[in-house]
Amino acid sequence: LSTASDDVGRLTRWADDFPEPGVKFADLTPVFADAKAFRDVIDAMVEAERSLRSEHRAGDGADLVAGIDARGFLLGAGVALALDAGVLAVRKAGKLPPPVLTREYQLEYGTASLEIPADGIELAGRRVLVIDDVLATGGTLGAAVELLGAAGAEVIGIAVVLEIEALDGRSRLAGHPVTSLLRV
Ligand code: PRP
Repeated sequence: LSTASDDVGRLTRWADDFPEPGVKFADLTPVFADAKAFRDVIDAMVEAERSLRSEHRAGDGADLVAGIDARGFLLGAGVALALDAGVLAVRKAGKLPPPVLTREYQLEYGTASLEIPADGIELAGRRVLVIDDVLATGGTLGAAVELLGAAGAEVIGIAVVLEIEALDGRSRLAGHPVTSLLRV
């Protein structure tokens, strides 16, 4: 019986020099398109949340799952349903109507910004699990965590499918527990 990490290792498509020369891009599209692999990955992320929950004070679990644009949306929705939590799409800049909270961050290639709504959703006191497909430099997840913190939410942890250890993204997420299904 293969596990989520086996599925991810087998099905991830690696692209050299994308989207910029020198960047090696991990495309998890084939993982999500495989019914068993997708199920295994969602189940493993739900398990990861249970571990975070036991580390967290009072054992409180996530009541909101924040998925990061764009592949984090797919994962976030699946995990939120399994946890009976709400889901929040953390968007790339320019997709949400104002007012928004914005954080700019560095990518391996250039800069970008993430945004969340500044009204219409009460984030103060929400216990949030932040989810994305890949942790590389940590710029993206770092910006997402800052945004949620600025909105008053409590980030209980971060879960990713694939962690590229050489880029040491974990060090930019200091203070937040991170779980990854596969480290390469
Ligand atoms: C990829 C990936 C993560 C981020 C990780 O997204 O899905 O969100 O990069 O990189 P980092 O740890 O160095 O910040 P990308 O920015 O390519 O955007 P996309 O999801 O719109 O393709």
